Amino acid sequence: MKISALRLDRARDRIAPQVKERWRRVVDNTAFVLGPEVREFEEGFARFLGAAGCVGVGNGTDALVLALRALDLQPGDEVIVPAFTFFATAEAVVLAGGKPVFADVEPATLNLSAADAERRISARTAGIIGVHLYGRPFDAEALLNLCAERGLWLVEDAAQAHGAVCGDLRVGTLGALACWSFYPTKNLGAWGDGGAVTGPDSELLERVQRLANHGQLGRYQHHEVGSNSRLDSLQAAVLNCRLPLLDDDNLRRREIADHYRGAFAGVDEIALPEDAEETIPVYHQFAVRTTRRDALAEHLASEGIGSAVHYPAPLHTLSAITRGATTPPPSLPVAEAAARELLCLPMFPELTNDEVAEVCLSVVRFYA
Ligand SMILES: Cc1ncc(COP(=O)(O)O)c(C=O)c1O
Repeated sequence: MKISALRLDRARDRIAPQVKERWRRVVDNTAFVLGPEVREFEEGFARFLGAAGCVGVGNGTDALVLALRALDLQPGDEVIVPAFTFFATAEAVVLAGGKPVFADVEPATLNLSAADAERRISARTAGIIGVHLYGRPFDAEALLNLCAERGLWLVEDAAQAHGAVCGDLRVGTLGALACWSFYPTKNLGAWGDGGAVTGPDSELLERVQRLANHGQLGRYQHHEVGSNSRLDSLQAAVLNCRLPLLDDDNLRRREIADHYRGAFAGVDEIALPEDAEETIPVYHQFAVRTTRRDALAEHLASEGIGSAVHYPAPLHTLSAITRGATTPPPSLPVAEAAARELLCLPMFPELTNDEVAEVCLSVVRFYA
């Protein structure tokens, strides 16, 4: 049996007829930019999250840049970001004119450590970006308290956590603004690029909307220099088909995670992801930790099973960040070990129980 790390074709087949019908309507009414499909998605996603609003944008990276600009990030302002995340989290800070300052992550959750973030606050710090990595909510209480004490804003990078819950709230409503990616592999993925910004503050979201549409207040009323970053109508149509399925899909991801947990409970050499209390994760990835990571990946591949390393290097060590720096990169040992030891196993809602069982057997065989 060949088992891929991800099968987008299975997700596609579930909604293809509905997407084709919606796409036909877009073609018929020529509402290619900011039409009814985009409005329906923005309203539906805001309602799903319990957010004050949702602004559809071009992709997740733009969502982060626009959020930082809406929060008035000034040239040279520092933004604390976790060292272990996808590069775009830090890249957006640079694109918005700021300086990313890397903090370590918690060993148990691999999410930003509030204690380490606090150590890195300086007179130039404007805010913190927390990432709900792999779909597991970060410690919102600790980070929000820290931000409140130090007069900083908190932005959520929710690109991997569509539908996750933290306390009584969905992620995407916790910080000043939250940024989403709808890249095809995400829990809520389009069939191309897409993104959104959500949050609890309508005024701030209006500014994001303006910035995403050439800084316009009304047609040709350019209030400030913005950019062109709008959610495409055809992508919004795909998202409108997928949003009603999201909670059930996430439930299935948790079921698969439970199977993995049960199977690996007795394997001493594997450390499993820990979920923070009072959170409902959505397992964008199921990442196990093992010092024999590369050998495990090779073994799985030899048995026809896909796996993936997200991410092989912590951000503070990448040449895009270190080039031209006047000081050596900080030592962030938890992020550095995570980059060496993590392996993501197949995780998508359409995985069958037989496939999950096969992955479990193969992993257990490797350690036997
Ligand atoms: C944590 C995180 N932040 C930001 C992004 C950027 O999103 P996009 O690829 O849509 O620009 C991604 C997407 O891969 C991500 O995983």
